[in-house]
Amino acid sequence: TRVFVSRDSAARSVGSDEVAERIVAAASGRAEGAPAVEVVRNGSRGMLWLEPLVEVETPDGRIGYGPVAPEDVDGLVAAGMLDGARGLAACLGNVEQLPWMRQQQRLTFGRVGVTDPLSVDDYTSYGGIRGLRQALAMTPAEVVETVVESGLRGRGGAGFPTGIKWRTVLGAQSDLKFVCCNADEGDSGTFADRMLIEGDPFTLIEGMTIAAYAVGASEGYVYLRSEYPDAVATLRAAIELARTEGWLGADVLGSGFEFDLHVRVGAGAYICGEETSMLESLEGKRGQVRAKPPIPALEGLFGLPTVVNNVLSLATVPTILADGAATYAAYGVGRSLGTSVFQLGGNVARGGIVETAFGITLGELVNEFGGGTSSGRPIRAVQVGGPLGAYLPVSQFDLPMDYEAFAAAGAMVGHGGIVVFDETVDMAAMARFAFEFCAAESCGKCTPCRVGAVRGVETIDRIVANDNREKNLVVLDDLCDLMTDGSLCAMGGLTPLPVRSAVRHFGKDFGA
Ligand code: NAI
Ligand code: SF4
Repeated sequence: TRVFVSRDSAARSVGSDEVAERIVAAASGRAEGAPAVEVVRNGSRGMLWLEPLVEVETPDGRIGYGPVAPEDVDGLVAAGMLDGARGLAACLGNVEQLPWMRQQQRLTFGRVGVTDPLSVDDYTSYGGIRGLRQALAMTPAEVVETVVESGLRGRGGAGFPTGIKWRTVLGAQSDLKFVCCNADEGDSGTFADRMLIEGDPFTLIEGMTIAAYAVGASEGYVYLRSEYPDAVATLRAAIELARTEGWLGADVLGSGFEFDLHVRVGAGAYICGEETSMLESLEGKRGQVRAKPPIPALEGLFGLPTVVNNVLSLATVPTILADGAATYAAYGVGRSLGTSVFQLGGNVARGGIVETAFGITLGELVNEFGGGTSSGRPIRAVQVGGPLGAYLPVSQFDLPMDYEAFAAAGAMVGHGGIVVFDETVDMAAMARFAFEFCAAESCGKCTPCRVGAVRGVETIDRIVANDNREKNLVVLDDLCDLMTDGSLCAMGGLTPLPVRSAVRHFGKDFGA
C-alpha cells in the first residue's frame, strides 16, 4: 500500500515529517499478513488547513485523512487508516472528489501533491517530458508562436504576453543567450512558486528547457530566495536527475540541442524580485534596479539577450506544448486566458492553492474556496496581488479574476496572492504599512520612492492624528501621483495602489 505524506515545507511546518515517521513505525508493528506499506513523500495538494494530510492508495482512489497530528497516528493505524478505512472521524473520503479539488482546473499544478517530486518515473508516467519532446520536433519559431497563441501572460504579476517576450529574444542576434527564472517570490501572501518547485520541480526544468530551445539560449539560471531552503534543495536534486536523464546537458533528448541550468540563491531583498535587480544580483552585484530600456529581452544578463520569466509562467509551458495552444486558450476570459494559481492566505478559514481558469470571481475564491475568515468575523477587506496590490471591499467581490477587469477597478491581479482581513483591521495602519514596507525595501536609486515612502509614513501619521487632516489628505494624493509617475520601478510606482484603495474604500479609518 502506498501512503502519501507531504514533504512540502508548509506541511512539514505542522509536523508532516513526524507523521511520516510514525506511520513507518506503526506499519512495521502491524499484524503478520498486513500489506507492506510504502510511505511516499509527495508535494502538497494545497489544502493547507488539512495538513498534515495522509492519503492512502486504494482501488477506489486515494483516501485522505487530515489534519493528522503525530500523536494521532497510532490510533488511526489501529482503526484501519492504512487499509483506507472510511468510518474514521479524520477521514475525508476520496481526495480528488473533495469539492475543493473537483472545482479546480489544475494544469500548471497538475502533478503537485500527486507525485513524488523527485521520481523520474512518476514524472513521465503523469505526462512529463511530452511537452519538451513536442517542442524539439518543432522549429524554435513554431514553439514561440505556440506560446503566443496560447495567450499565456507573465504570471509574476505584470501579465506581459510570454510568447511576445520570447519572440523578441529569438529575434535578437547573439552567440550567447540566457533563460532566467525569477523565483524570488517576495510578495506577502504568495507561495505558489515555492509549492511548484517543492512539489513538481521537473515541470519548471522542462519549461525552462523549452524556453531555451525556443529562443536559442544555452544557459539558464533559477534565482531562488534563501528563505526557501527546501525548494533550493529539491530543485538542485531535480537538476542532477534531469542531467542524468538527458533532459538537460550537451544533447537534450538526443536532439543535439544544448542547455544547462543552475540555481542561484538570493540573500533576501524584496527588490531582487524586480527583474533588472535580479539580473544585477545574478551578476554578483548589489541588487539595484536598472533603467529600462534596454529591456532584458535585448540586454539582460551580462548585457546579453535574456528571457526572464516567473516560475509559474515557465512551469505552464510544458502543458501548452503537450496539449496544444488551443486547449490552453480555451480556459479563461477576454485577454486573460488559461488558468492561474491563486493563493488564499491571511485571516481565511481554508487557506491554500486554487488553480482555476481566469474569470472566477474574487468572492467565489474567498467565500467558496476560502470559507470566509478563520476568526469567524465578517470580512472587511482583501488585498490582491501582494503588498503592492489594492485593498478591495466586499462590495467588489463580484470582480472577475482578469487582468483587465482588475486594472479597470484600480487594482491588480499580480502574482495571484489574496490576503483576507476581518472587520477588526485598521486600514489606516495598513496604508501606513505600505509606505513602511516601501521605505524598508526601496533600493534607493530614485527619489520618489526613496524619499516618498518616508514622507508617506509621516503624512499618514498626521492624518490619523488629525493634524491638518484635509491638507494632508491633499499632500498624500500629490505624493501618490508623484510616486506613480516618477518612480523607476514597480516598488515605488505601485505603493500608491494599496494606499489609495485604503483611503477610497475605508475612508473612515482615516478620520474622514
Ligand atoms: P513591466 O510591465 O515593466 O514588464 C513586464 C515584463 O515584460 C518584463 O519582463 C519586461 O522586460 C517585459 N517587456 C516589456 N516590454 C517588452 C517587449 N517589448 N518585448 C519583450 N519584453 C518586454 O513590469 P515589471 O516591472 O517587470 O513587473 C511589475 C509587476 O511585478 C507588478 O505588476 C507586480 O504584480 C509584480 N510583482 C511581483 C512580485 C512577486 O513576488 N511575484 C513582487 C513584486 C511585484
Ligand atoms: Fe529603487 Fe524604489 Fe526607484 Fe524602484 S522605485 S528603482 S525600488 S528607489
